[in-house]
Amino acid sequence: MSAVLQALPASRQHLAIKPFDAPLGAEVLGLDLSQPVSEQDFALLHRAHLDHHVLVFRDQHIAPREQVDFSRRFGRLQIHVLRQFQLPSDPEVLVISNIRENGQPIGLGDAGHFWHSDLSYKETPSLGSMLHAQELPEEGGDTLFANQHTAWEQLPDYLWRAVEHAQAEHSYLARYADLQKRNPWRPDLTQAQIDEVRPVVHPVVRTHPETGRKALFVSEHFTTRIVGLPESESRALLKELFEHSTRPEYIYRHRWQPGDMVFWDNRSLLHLAAGCPIDQRRKLYRTTIEGDVPF
Ligand code: SIN
Repeated sequence: MSAVLQALPASRQHLAIKPFDAPLGAEVLGLDLSQPVSEQDFALLHRAHLDHHVLVFRDQHIAPREQVDFSRRFGRLQIHVLRQFQLPSDPEVLVISNIRENGQPIGLGDAGHFWHSDLSYKETPSLGSMLHAQELPEEGGDTLFANQHTAWEQLPDYLWRAVEHAQAEHSYLARYADLQKRNPWRPDLTQAQIDEVRPVVHPVVRTHPETGRKALFVSEHFTTRIVGLPESESRALLKELFEHSTRPEYIYRHRWQPGDMVFWDNRSLLHLAAGCPIDQRRKLYRTTIEGDVPF
């Protein structure tokens, strides 16, 4: 994709969208999120988000409340089931961090270590998520995004026919025990938490509710089975889909810089946290905007 700035009307030349030389993503130039965002600028950001799927706002110095307020302009916010990792002052913010204070984790330390789309295990998965960098490691800590529109468009014919009308189950609990074994700090879930994340069924190929584009909608983290297929067939088909959906040519790798705010579209993308050395501190604040029931 061209790195040339997209043309904007003269009245809005302070704000520019610069597409990355990558399968997705763009940088937003000339916007300070600590200042009110006008309706006109908001409309431009909304369009750019639909076109590029990831927007990167560099060097943003905003309080959690400002992140919450900006996120709310795109829709209702969702609260993560692990209430333990809410920011006490702003419960809509989920702390993503490997830091421990007084022996206790301050955030979800292994969030995103498998490819996923946020909250796909809910009836109404997330429209999009915003992540604002607070502390970054010197090494690693990147986030990878894979374009699921392209993954669908380039799916081999035999897979296309196998999944075009298929439904799949998504479950938050599927990998929980496994994650808990690797990360003993992960809390046991209460019955109320388990009830909040009962498995749901979604189409394997969803239609983006705003652009009408189709996208693959399965992930290694949350998708457990293809409905109606014998276990072994379902497992084999999902394995092929997972491999295909994260091919290198669909991926943009975000290398975090201090002050970065990244806003992505969970209806178009999968994402993955690449991880960093365990002795390096990483902390980001996430807000999650509710989307529609996938169709
Ligand atoms: C997430 O999956 O939301 C977290 C991604 C990251 O920490 O890079």
